[in-house]
Amino acid sequence: MSYDFEEVQTYAESHTTPPADPLRRLGEETEATQDAPQMSLGPNEGAFLRFLVTLMKPQRVLEIGVFTGWSSIEIARGLPAGGKLIALDVNEETTAIARRYAEEMGVADRIDYIVGDAGQTIAALEGPPFDLVFIDAWKPDYVDYYEAVLPKLAPDGLILADNTLGALDGNEGIVRFNEHVSADERVESVLVPIRDGLTMIRRV
Ligand SMILES: C[S@@+](CC[C@H](N)C(=O)[O-])C[C@H]1O[C@@H](n2cnc3c(N)ncnc32)[C@H](O)[C@@H]1O
Repeated sequence: MSYDFEEVQTYAESHTTPPADPLRRLGEETEATQDAPQMSLGPNEGAFLRFLVTLMKPQRVLEIGVFTGWSSIEIARGLPAGGKLIALDVNEETTAIARRYAEEMGVADRIDYIVGDAGQTIAALEGPPFDLVFIDAWKPDYVDYYEAVLPKLAPDGLILADNTLGALDGNEGIVRFNEHVSADERVESVLVPIRDGLTMIRRV
């Protein structure tokens, strides 16, 4: 193959249905106001996530790492009637941005935002198991998030972990996470090389 990583990203994005207008503005506001705007999921992976949710029809979804809200809005847009997303982040300011755009998109009533440390929040979560969990918070804690959510996952539920190609950039938390999941005989996984990597994990 003769193409490079940046070329793939640009080409994939230009052949993905463009984001709805409020999401496009969310991207612009994130770019203008945040120190690390690249944390936002963006159009290509965001659309992929919404496709998955639309096909899976999960009733109960957990997101760990909301930031300014791109992924939570795309998940919420894909939910079936009655579906709920519980969205965790430690940052009150960025969660307020996420909530504002979710309201504008008409999906805020499908999202319960919980502001606080994800580790503590997950441990305290009660209720039916999750059909889908999206992990996208503090990379050194990925293994802990994973171990905390696995017992709360529905039997045929799916865990998605973002940024898992970060191992190739030497991200130690991600290296540890990828090795942990690869060695875990309770699950099977596939690392999808979309953007900087999305690992899909299900129980066997
Ligand atoms: C990569 S960003 C999430 C991007 C988001 N999914 C999106 O599509 O825009 C990581 C987020 O994890 C949050 N975070 C970091 N450590 C956390 C913790 N211990 N508990 C909860 N959230 C945390 C950060 O505040 C940040 O908003």
